[in-house]
Amino acid sequence: MTFREATSAALLGTLTAALALQVVPARRTNPPVSAALVSPPEVDAALRRACYDCHSNETRWPWYSHVAPFSWLIAADVARGRREVNFSEWGSYYSATRRRKLQWIARSFREAKMPPWSYRLMHPDARLSDTERALLERWIASQLSGNPIRPPDK
Ligand code: HEC
Repeated sequence: MTFREATSAALLGTLTAALALQVVPARRTNPPVSAALVSPPEVDAALRRACYDCHSNETRWPWYSHVAPFSWLIAADVARGRREVNFSEWGSYYSATRRRKLQWIARSFREAKMPPWSYRLMHPDARLSDTERALLERWIASQLSGNPIRPPDK
């Protein structure tokens, strides 16, 4: 086998493997929004831009979320993210749960953990400015000081 033949064989092998991966679909779902968070428009806009793709049922699935193996990684991130904090189910959380999650969110800002760096890489516009971060921190503080986001449903 010449070098050229070997390279084409390797390329064909890689291509075939990449195509074979596509057979296993990822679970990309956007379940109905049951109890959306109600917040001031600027807070809502910042959360939607930076967090909603993984922490709501309103995920904007990018084209590469249809291509394995990225599809699996992205779907897994969204599933884990929704499990931790889901702004589309916010109103159905007990108020103690909401408080705990708000404290987590404040911590994620202090530690500059969210949105995850891999997401910021693909979505530079999802970065929060210092002003937005300060706004969100003020909003969280106001929620925690006993001013509920919406009257309890039950
Ligand atoms: C690319 C998807 C993605 C985006 C975008 C994202 N998150 Fe997350 N988030 C996750 C995942 C996955 C977890 C669970 C695993 C972990 O803790 O790393 C998580 C966990 C969390 C947690 C709870 C656990 C903890 O570590 O404190 C909070 C709070 C949180 N995210 C807040 C946010 C906020 C606020 C934003 C927007 C500024 C955001 N996230 C944007 C994927 C995301």
